[in-house]
Formats: sequence, C-alpha cells, structure tokens
Amino acid sequence: MITLEAMRAAWPQIGLRMLAVGHALPAAGPVPNSYLEKLVDTSDEWIVSRTGIKERYFCAEQQNVELAEAAAKEAMARAGVEAGQIGVCLVATFTPDRQSPSVACCLQQRLGLPEDAVMFDMNAACAGFLYGVQTARQILLAAPAERPYALVLGSETPSRVLDFTDRNTCVLFGDGAAAAVLELSAENPYYAVCGSRTDNEQMLFCTGLADDKPGVVHMQGQEVFRFAVDIIPHSIEQLLTKCGLQLADIDHVVCHQANNRIISHVVKKMHARPEQFFINLQHYGNTSSASIPLALNDMWEQGLLQRGQKVICVGFGAGFTWGACLLTW
Ligand code: UT7
Repeated sequence: MITLEAMRAAWPQIGLRMLAVGHALPAAGPVPNSYLEKLVDTSDEWIVSRTGIKERYFCAEQQNVELAEAAAKEAMARAGVEAGQIGVCLVATFTPDRQSPSVACCLQQRLGLPEDAVMFDMNAACAGFLYGVQTARQILLAAPAERPYALVLGSETPSRVLDFTDRNTCVLFGDGAAAAVLELSAENPYYAVCGSRTDNEQMLFCTGLADDKPGVVHMQGQEVFRFAVDIIPHSIEQLLTKCGLQLADIDHVVCHQANNRIISHVVKKMHARPEQFFINLQHYGNTSSASIPLALNDMWEQGLLQRGQKVICVGFGAGFTWGACLLTW
C-alpha cells in the first residue's frame, strides 16, 4: 500500500500541459477612454499615464455564460478535445450571472459536458484562474480515464458591478473570458504557490447580499497597488525557489493585467528584462480572473508561445488572494 509520504513525494512530479487557450470578448466592441470622459471627471491622458489602459470591452446584452461558452468552444476546438473527454470544468469568476446555478453548470448544457464531470465556479477574485488551474490538477487525478481533460476558465463581466459615477474604479475594469484545456503530464513540469493575505475586507471588494446596495465594486487603489508590488516579486521568488530556477531561466512572465505601472515596478524591483513580461492591458483593462488566460491567448495568437518554454503566471486580487504557477508550455 502506498504511504502518505510516497504520495506527497510523487505529487510535485505530476506535471500539467496546457493544450490550448481560447477567448471571447463582448460583441459590442472596444470602448475607448473617451467614452468614460463623458461619464466621469477623467481624461484619456490620466487613464493612460496612470494605468496604461487605452480601451476595454463592456457587454451590452451578452451574459457571462455566453462569453464563457464562446471561449471554451474556441479552446476545445484548438485542443481537438471533445466535450465527452472533459472530466472537470472550473469557472473562476466574481461576476456570475446568477448566485446559482454556477456558470460552470450552465456551461454543461451549452457544451454537452458529461454528467459525471465535476463542475463549479470559484471566486478567488483576480487570482481565480491560477487557483482554478491548481484545483483542476488535483481533481484530474481522480477523473475517469476517458475524461482526462480539464476546462478552466476566467470569465468576467465587471461592467455589471461598476459604479459609472466613480472615477476611481469605472475606468479600470473590462469584460472578457478566456479558457484553457489542460491535462496531466509527465513531461511538462508544473509548480504553484498560492495563498491569501487578509485586507480586513476594506481595500477591494464587491458588495453582496449582506449590503444595502449589492453588486458594486469599491477599491482603495493605492493600498492595492502597494500589495501588488509586494506580493508579485514575493510569489515569483517563492515559486522559483520551489522549482530551483532563476528568473533568467524563464521565457515569459504573465502578470495579472491591472496596471502597467505595477508591472514596471516589479521589473525594476526584480532586475528583470522588461521583454520577459507580457502586457496587453492597454486593450482590455483589468478583466479580473480572465486577464491571465486572455494574455496567454494573445501570446499564443501572436506566436510568442513555443512548446517547451517556461511561463510564469502570477496573480493577485481581492481578499487579498495571490498565486503564481510555472507552466511548461
Ligand atoms: O485586480 C484588482 C487589482 N487592482 C489593482 O491592481 C489597482 C491598483 N491600483 C492602481 O492601479 C492605482 O492605484 C490606480 C490606477 C487605481 C490609481 O492610481 P494612483 O496613481 O494610485 O492615483 P490615486 O488614487 O493616488 O489618485 C491620484 C489623484 C486623486 O486626485 P487628488 O486627490 O490628487 O486630487 C484622485 O482623485 O487622481 C484622482 N483620480 C482620477 N483622476 C482622473 C482617481 N481616479 C481618477 C480618474 N481620472 N479616473
């Protein structure tokens, strides 16, 4: 009989392969900063210089699940994986269309996912996709042999929870979804670190059932900024120690896309090469849990991701949640 120690020793050797990514953006098209200039006292100059964001997408009629469905279908088609082969479907989101059922369960019918697949949403805010990948890896170990693939999404419609009279938040976020198809692999090493540091529920939150006005994002930007520039290098260093690598060994670093000044701070603090750090937030704003897989999708579409490359993804969000993983593409 296998001992607990033997199980623990084997665990790090169980790698993960990302077969493909896919994405979906609201059909209404990009919304430039000039649109927000009409709603609040802001300017394109302020938004670009303080964040790097030039445009983002907002859903008009579309729902979260519709974005999720389109992203999942694109990822599955690119991976050549059928619905019947999916053993687990996890949707990271803090903006589900309904409290219940989950976006993941709504996807089951739309995609024809098997009845014995595990399906649920998880809310780890902007670090949600990384939590999802880590969780899916563990669930895949127990999946039936004929369902060896995981579908992990970050799918968000923050436009539904933004106060369009609050310039501190409404200029920052955007809607979008991205999906990844994953399988366990002996050849693709995978390492992850993640955790949560309490922010006393004050720095970054979206009101809910216990609040007078549910469904509104509030943020103390500078506090979140301080957390981000501390936790990103910290989690990357923890991850590198775990896998015995140096930052110079890494081909790409994909940070949660919230603000390019955060990424510049990290590059400087870690004495990194700026070109290691991918940035696409100028086009999408902060899409919360969708930002990392959306970045991977853009990198793949631009031909930047080659098989065998080492990619670090690092996220942080409300909670404060944080996480980082090393993927071997
Ligand atoms: O995924 C969630 C994670 N979130 C984040 O990572 C966000 C982290 N924080 C940030 O990215 C930045 O703190 C912000 C972009 C949110 C704000 O930038 P900042 O440089 O920290 O600005 P600030 O909050 O210190 O505000 C500076 C000034 C203030 O005016 P006064 O008090 O100096 O007169 C703000 O009222 O900028 C003002 N301001 C704006 N002005 C024009 C705040 N928002 C705006 C705006 N347009 N949209």
